[in-house]
Amino acid sequence: MGRRIILLGPPGAGKGTQAKWLVEKTGLLHLSTGDLLRDEVARRTELGMNARAFMDRGDLVPDDVIIEMIRGKIGDAEGFILDGFPRTVAQAEALARITHVDHVLYIALDREQVIARLTSRRVCRDCGWITNILSNDAATDGACRDCGGELYQRDDDRREVIENRFDVYIGATAPLIAYYGKLGILSEVDGNQSPEAVLVQILAVVEAA
Ligand code: AP5
Ligand code: MG
Repeated sequence: MGRRIILLGPPGAGKGTQAKWLVEKTGLLHLSTGDLLRDEVARRTELGMNARAFMDRGDLVPDDVIIEMIRGKIGDAEGFILDGFPRTVAQAEALARITHVDHVLYIALDREQVIARLTSRRVCRDCGWITNILSNDAATDGACRDCGGELYQRDDDRREVIENRFDVYIGATAPLIAYYGKLGILSEVDGNQSPEAVLVQILAVVEAA
């Protein structure tokens, strides 16, 4: 099994959802730069205070900050699931200097689906469980199904910020599809199907090699 995995895709494609399930199946280390940054913001660290304005607008935090933050986390880990990193060609080139990558799973989703999903997403403040008020298993009482924690709406899940995040994705991140395609390690998965069906396709790729 290829153990060094990148989940690539627009905001709302399901990277976090799939990463959590993949961790349960594979035991690999999950590294989400978005989650790491939100933790820095919550702890009011200097990094978090500097990153916050970028995140609130839906812009990317500067490459050097992100690369420095992730470098130590990847370290010499034997396997990982990268979620939301790399997000620019410069970040991909920096990653290539740190370690090699086995698979890039590109989860595709169009703009309208992205907006619909993210305006209705809820996340558990305590355990990070991701859900959606439109889905069948949604908690209707505002409590997390897993741990009973409070479900909240991310600060950047406002429509105008979501639209900017999608535009930023198209401009800065989508070029990575060609970048990793040329390296022969990219597989595309249709994100507009059930999360279970997406997982099956991802596992078929990572378990094949
Ligand atoms: P980040 O936290 O990475 O946000 P994102 O890329 O915008 O992605 P999301 O977390 O919004 O979506 P997701 O793909 O994880 O979808 P999810 O599984 O939650 O980054 C936030 C900010 O931090 C950035 O804007 C930037 O400022 C900064 N940042 C982070 N990394 C950076 C980097 N490398 N460089 C620079 N800046 C960086 O699912 C979404 C919703 O859909 C949920 O409600 C879920 O329940 C639902 N759902 C999931 N799958 C399905 C499905 N198959 N069918 C129906 N619904 C589904
Ligand atoms: Mg996410």
